[in-house]
Amino acid sequence: MLKDDIERVLISEETLQKRVAELGAQISADYAGKEPVLVSVLRGSYIFMADLTRHIDAFCRVDFMAVSSYGAGTVSSGQVNIIKDLSDSIEGKDVIVVEDILDSGNTLHYLFQLLQARHPASIKLATLLDKPSRRTKPITADYVGFEVPDEFVVGYGLDYDELYRNLPYIGVLKPRVYGENLISD
Ligand code: PRP
Repeated sequence: MLKDDIERVLISEETLQKRVAELGAQISADYAGKEPVLVSVLRGSYIFMADLTRHIDAFCRVDFMAVSSYGAGTVSSGQVNIIKDLSDSIEGKDVIVVEDILDSGNTLHYLFQLLQARHPASIKLATLLDKPSRRTKPITADYVGFEVPDEFVVGYGLDYDELYRNLPYIGVLKPRVYGENLISD
Protein backbone atom coordinates (compact mmCIF):
# COMPACT_ATOMS: atom_id res chain seq x y z
CA MET A 1 0.00 0.00 0.00
CA LEU A 2 1.08 3.54 -0.83
CA LYS A 3 0.65 4.77 2.74
CA ASP A 4 2.91 2.04 4.15
CA ASP A 5 5.92 3.91 2.73
CA ILE A 6 5.07 7.08 4.67
CA GLU A 7 6.77 7.61 8.02
CA ARG A 8 4.41 10.40 9.10
CA VAL A 9 2.08 13.08 7.79
CA LEU A 10 3.91 16.42 7.83
CA ILE A 11 1.08 18.65 6.50
CA SER A 12 -2.48 17.35 6.57
CA GLU A 13 -4.98 17.71 3.76
CA GLU A 14 -7.02 20.17 5.81
CA THR A 15 -4.00 22.35 6.66
CA LEU A 16 -2.93 22.37 3.00
CA GLN A 17 -6.35 23.47 1.80
CA LYS A 18 -6.58 26.26 4.37
CA ARG A 19 -3.14 27.66 3.51
CA VAL A 20 -3.66 27.42 -0.26
CA ALA A 21 -6.91 29.38 0.13
CA GLU A 22 -4.99 32.06 2.07
CA LEU A 23 -2.36 32.29 -0.66
CA GLY A 24 -5.09 32.59 -3.29
CA ALA A 25 -6.71 35.44 -1.37
CA GLN A 26 -3.36 37.19 -0.99
CA ILE A 27 -2.61 36.88 -4.71
CA SER A 28 -6.13 38.11 -5.57
CA ALA A 29 -5.53 41.24 -3.50
CA ASP A 30 -2.00 41.84 -4.81
CA TYR A 31 -3.07 41.49 -8.45
CA ALA A 32 -6.35 43.42 -8.25
CA GLY A 33 -6.96 45.07 -11.62
CA LYS A 34 -4.27 42.97 -13.31
CA GLU A 35 -4.46 39.79 -15.35
CA PRO A 36 -1.60 37.60 -14.16
CA VAL A 37 -0.33 34.55 -15.99
CA LEU A 38 0.24 31.63 -13.65
CA VAL A 39 3.02 29.39 -14.89
CA SER A 40 2.94 25.92 -13.41
CA VAL A 41 6.29 24.16 -13.36
CA LEU A 42 5.44 20.55 -14.04
CA ARG A 43 5.18 18.01 -12.88
CA GLY A 44 5.33 18.59 -9.14
CA SER A 45 3.14 21.71 -9.02
CA TYR A 46 0.09 20.30 -10.77
CA ILE A 47 -2.08 19.82 -7.68
CA PHE A 48 -1.01 23.06 -5.99
CA MET A 49 -1.66 24.93 -9.26
CA ALA A 50 -5.14 23.43 -9.63
CA ASP A 51 -6.10 24.29 -6.05
CA LEU A 52 -4.42 27.71 -5.97
CA THR A 53 -6.02 29.00 -9.17
CA ARG A 54 -9.46 28.09 -7.87
CA HIS A 55 -8.84 30.44 -4.96
CA ILE A 56 -7.80 33.38 -7.14
CA ASP A 57 -10.61 35.85 -7.68
CA ALA A 58 -9.16 37.68 -10.69
CA PHE A 59 -8.93 37.31 -14.44
CA CYS A 60 -5.90 35.11 -14.85
CA ARG A 61 -4.37 32.84 -17.45
CA VAL A 62 -2.55 29.58 -16.96
CA ASP A 63 0.40 28.14 -18.80
CA PHE A 64 2.71 25.21 -18.21
CA MET A 65 6.38 24.38 -18.40
CA ALA A 66 7.92 21.01 -17.79
CA VAL A 67 11.44 20.91 -16.44
CA SER A 68 13.43 18.23 -14.78
CA SER A 69 16.40 18.53 -12.48
CA TYR A 70 16.15 15.36 -10.44
CA GLY A 71 16.66 11.81 -11.61
CA ALA A 72 15.73 8.92 -9.36
CA GLY A 73 17.87 10.41 -6.58
CA THR A 74 16.75 12.76 -3.83
CA VAL A 75 19.22 15.58 -4.47
CA SER A 76 19.11 18.07 -7.36
CA SER A 77 21.72 17.35 -10.02
CA GLY A 78 22.04 21.06 -10.88
CA GLN A 79 21.32 20.24 -14.52
CA VAL A 80 17.96 21.66 -15.65
CA ASN A 81 16.27 20.29 -18.74
CA ILE A 82 13.36 22.05 -20.45
CA ILE A 83 10.98 19.31 -21.52
CA LYS A 84 8.03 21.53 -22.43
CA ASP A 85 8.13 25.29 -22.96
CA LEU A 86 5.30 27.80 -22.44
CA SER A 87 2.55 27.88 -25.05
CA ASP A 88 2.19 31.69 -25.08
CA SER A 89 4.45 34.73 -24.95
CA ILE A 90 4.89 36.36 -21.52
CA GLU A 91 6.23 39.66 -22.86
CA GLY A 92 4.62 42.51 -20.92
CA LYS A 93 2.68 40.10 -18.68
CA ASP A 94 2.58 39.82 -14.90
CA VAL A 95 3.90 36.31 -14.35
CA ILE A 96 3.56 34.17 -11.24
CA VAL A 97 5.68 31.02 -11.37
CA VAL A 98 4.03 28.25 -9.37
CA GLU A 99 6.27 25.59 -7.85
CA ASP A 100 5.74 22.75 -5.44
CA ILE A 101 9.08 23.06 -3.66
CA LEU A 102 12.02 25.43 -3.52
CA ASP A 103 14.99 23.38 -2.45
CA SER A 104 18.54 24.13 -3.64
CA GLY A 105 17.16 26.88 -5.87
CA ASN A 106 18.92 25.47 -8.96
CA THR A 107 15.73 24.99 -10.96
CA LEU A 108 14.23 28.39 -10.19
CA HIS A 109 17.51 30.24 -10.63
CA TYR A 110 17.80 28.83 -14.13
CA LEU A 111 14.11 29.30 -14.92
CA PHE A 112 13.96 32.92 -13.74
CA GLN A 113 16.92 33.85 -15.95
CA LEU A 114 15.20 32.19 -18.88
CA LEU A 115 11.84 33.88 -18.26
CA GLN A 116 13.30 37.33 -17.43
CA ALA A 117 14.94 37.33 -20.86
CA ARG A 118 11.43 37.24 -22.37
CA HIS A 119 10.64 40.66 -20.81
CA PRO A 120 7.59 40.05 -18.62
CA ALA A 121 6.19 43.17 -16.87
CA SER A 122 6.85 41.43 -13.55
CA ILE A 123 7.70 37.97 -12.31
CA LYS A 124 7.06 36.48 -8.89
CA LEU A 125 7.36 33.07 -7.35
CA ALA A 126 4.74 31.13 -5.43
CA THR A 127 5.96 27.92 -3.86
CA LEU A 128 3.96 25.55 -1.73
CA LEU A 129 7.01 24.36 0.21
CA ASP A 130 10.28 26.06 1.03
CA LYS A 131 13.39 24.27 2.32
CA PRO A 132 15.67 27.25 2.99
CA SER A 133 18.23 25.11 4.82
CA ARG A 134 19.29 23.56 1.49
CA ARG A 135 19.54 26.70 -0.63
CA THR A 136 22.67 27.10 -2.74
CA LYS A 137 21.30 29.76 -5.12
CA PRO A 138 20.08 33.26 -4.13
CA ILE A 139 16.37 32.66 -4.68
CA THR A 140 13.53 33.65 -2.38
CA ALA A 141 9.83 33.11 -2.99
CA ASP A 142 7.22 35.88 -2.87
CA TYR A 143 4.48 33.51 -1.69
CA VAL A 144 5.33 30.54 0.52
CA GLY A 145 2.87 27.96 1.76
CA PHE A 146 5.01 26.25 4.36
CA GLU A 147 8.65 26.15 5.40
CA VAL A 148 9.69 22.52 5.75
CA PRO A 149 12.66 20.79 7.41
CA ASP A 150 15.31 18.93 5.43
CA GLU A 151 13.40 15.67 5.13
CA PHE A 152 12.32 13.84 2.01
CA VAL A 153 8.71 14.85 1.49
CA VAL A 154 6.18 13.46 -0.98
CA GLY A 155 2.50 13.84 -1.81
CA TYR A 156 0.20 16.64 -3.06
CA GLY A 157 2.16 16.59 -6.33
CA LEU A 158 5.62 15.82 -4.98
CA ASP A 159 7.16 12.53 -6.01
CA TYR A 160 9.87 10.09 -5.30
CA ASP A 161 10.80 8.25 -8.49
CA GLU A 162 7.49 9.47 -10.02
CA LEU A 163 5.40 7.84 -7.28
CA TYR A 164 3.43 9.22 -4.31
CA ARG A 165 2.25 12.39 -6.15
CA ASN A 166 -1.36 11.38 -5.61
CA LEU A 167 -1.26 11.35 -1.80
CA PRO A 168 -3.66 14.08 -0.62
CA TYR A 169 -1.23 15.27 2.11
CA ILE A 170 2.49 16.01 2.44
CA GLY A 171 4.23 13.09 4.09
CA VAL A 172 7.76 12.15 5.05
CA LEU A 173 8.98 9.14 3.14
CA LYS A 174 10.44 6.23 5.10
CA PRO A 175 14.24 6.27 4.56
CA ARG A 176 14.19 2.58 3.56
CA VAL A 177 12.32 3.58 0.39
CA TYR A 178 15.06 5.83 -0.99
CA GLY A 179 18.06 4.64 1.01
CA GLU A 180 19.78 2.83 -1.83
CA ASN A 181 19.35 5.73 -4.29
CA LEU A 182 20.49 8.60 -2.08
CA ILE A 183 23.05 10.72 -3.92
CA SER A 184 25.18 13.10 -1.92
CA ASP A 185 26.06 16.64 -3.06
C1 PRP B 1 11.37 19.58 -8.12
C2 PRP B 1 10.49 20.79 -7.89
C3 PRP B 1 11.33 21.93 -8.35
C4 PRP B 1 12.73 21.47 -8.05
C5 PRP B 1 13.19 22.14 -6.81
O1 PRP B 1 11.23 19.18 -9.45
O2 PRP B 1 9.30 20.70 -8.61
O3 PRP B 1 11.18 22.17 -9.74
O4 PRP B 1 12.69 20.06 -7.86
O5 PRP B 1 14.48 21.75 -6.46
P1 PRP B 1 15.73 22.72 -6.52
O6 PRP B 1 15.33 23.98 -5.78
O7 PRP B 1 16.79 21.96 -5.77
O8 PRP B 1 16.09 22.97 -7.94
P2 PRP B 1 11.70 17.76 -10.02
O9 PRP B 1 12.95 17.93 -10.82
O10 PRP B 1 11.72 16.75 -8.91
O11 PRP B 1 10.58 17.41 -11.07
P3 PRP B 1 9.00 17.23 -10.86
O12 PRP B 1 8.44 18.62 -10.68
O13 PRP B 1 8.56 16.59 -12.13
O14 PRP B 1 8.76 16.36 -9.66
